[in-house]
Amino acid sequence: MTKTIIYNINELVTCSGFSSKHKEEMNDLHIKYDSAIYIEDEIIKDIDSESIIFSKYMKDDIILIDANKKCVLPGFIDSHTHLVFGGYRENEFYQRINGATYMEIMEKGGGIINSVNATRKATVQELIDKSLIVLKSMLSYGVTTIEAKSGYGLDLDNEIKQLEVAKDLEKLQPIEIISTYLGAHAYINTDNMSKNEYISFMSKVVLPVIKERNLARFVDAFVEKNVYSIDEGRKILTDAKELGFKIKIHADELSCLEGSKLAAELKCVSADHLLYASEEGITCLANNNVIATLLPLTAFNLKENYANGRKFIDKGCSVCIATDFNPGSCFSENINLAILLSNLYMGLTIEEAITAVTINAAAALSLEKSIGSIDVGKQADIIILDYDSYKFIPYHLGSSSVNRVIKKGKIVFSKENK
Ligand code: NIG
Ligand code: FE
Repeated sequence: MTKTIIYNINELVTCSGFSSKHKEEMNDLHIKYDSAIYIEDEIIKDIDSESIIFSKYMKDDIILIDANKKCVLPGFIDSHTHLVFGGYRENEFYQRINGATYMEIMEKGGGIINSVNATRKATVQELIDKSLIVLKSMLSYGVTTIEAKSGYGLDLDNEIKQLEVAKDLEKLQPIEIISTYLGAHAYINTDNMSKNEYISFMSKVVLPVIKERNLARFVDAFVEKNVYSIDEGRKILTDAKELGFKIKIHADELSCLEGSKLAAELKCVSADHLLYASEEGITCLANNNVIATLLPLTAFNLKENYANGRKFIDKGCSVCIATDFNPGSCFSENINLAILLSNLYMGLTIEEAITAVTINAAAALSLEKSIGSIDVGKQADIIILDYDSYKFIPYHLGSSSVNRVIKKGKIVFSKENK
């Protein structure tokens, strides 16, 4: 058994808790001083004053991690990414800079479909190699767990290919990957299926294969004007739920279809984007304990108005922040910048933003009992900053202030050895 002590910590930001946080709870980071952490293998076994931890556990075989009087936090969780895709869409970005909108590009046959064509052509190895570059960068921002959606294959073989790549990636690097099937990301005339045929194909053909091979925990749908309607989203997500999947929804991203209300009706684990969510929609999310996942980098990059994070919190929603890393609307894995934008433009306090990328993000993946905080019994996913306070995270504009990352009790990233 590997035994480890993390000591010499200035500020131990525990984010303590085993369930999602709301309202004032989001502002309490449960900070401890003069504390040390004792870890056995992958699990946090004790948190106490440094002197007590040393007297109880200091033996010859102990591994000591000196935090150098810096700030220590739970590893960040990026609960909404489209990690695996073929090709890039830098030319669409170029068009957007010259005045085209994301929707115009999509309506002219570009957008997600471009990535679908490139993903279908890509080999497994190509997808793995590209994703490893991104994961390495994510780790340097202190991310220890992510969600990764499919949705750039659409047909059976290519959706499975994307999900299998995500599974392979887990074995090749330290970040844990929770997979989501997003067959309802776009509709194209795959194998000459009408839209209704494609919707039943997802439920009757694709989902059973994914379930049998344990390739995804969640199912998501892009409910948006000219993409999937409320009724279509309801059908896909209800079928998924009946098969035992947990469900999420891309809701009210570019227009207000009231996807938030659908998320509440279906008891989705999270509703994501929500830039155009109505007052009533927000209330429905709060009343049904659906996590509101806000994605400031996408709003920033599409020059859209930010979701009003303050309102979501004040109305009682448990708010989570994620990157939405993808090749089109947000080619950025910079969770640090997402935190800053939520502070500057969404009305979140720094404490709320930290809660939103730790314990609330864990809850958005239904993992709040095992990750997202530094508590006895949780997995030892921990980051040590370059600085002594968590306030440096957004203050250090868009740059990583993470010095070391510990995943499942082991140091897996260190700035010095980069
Ligand atoms: O979350 N909204 C749908 N999906 C992505 C965009 C995907 C893409 O442009 O490739 C999003 O913004
Ligand atoms: Fe997304």
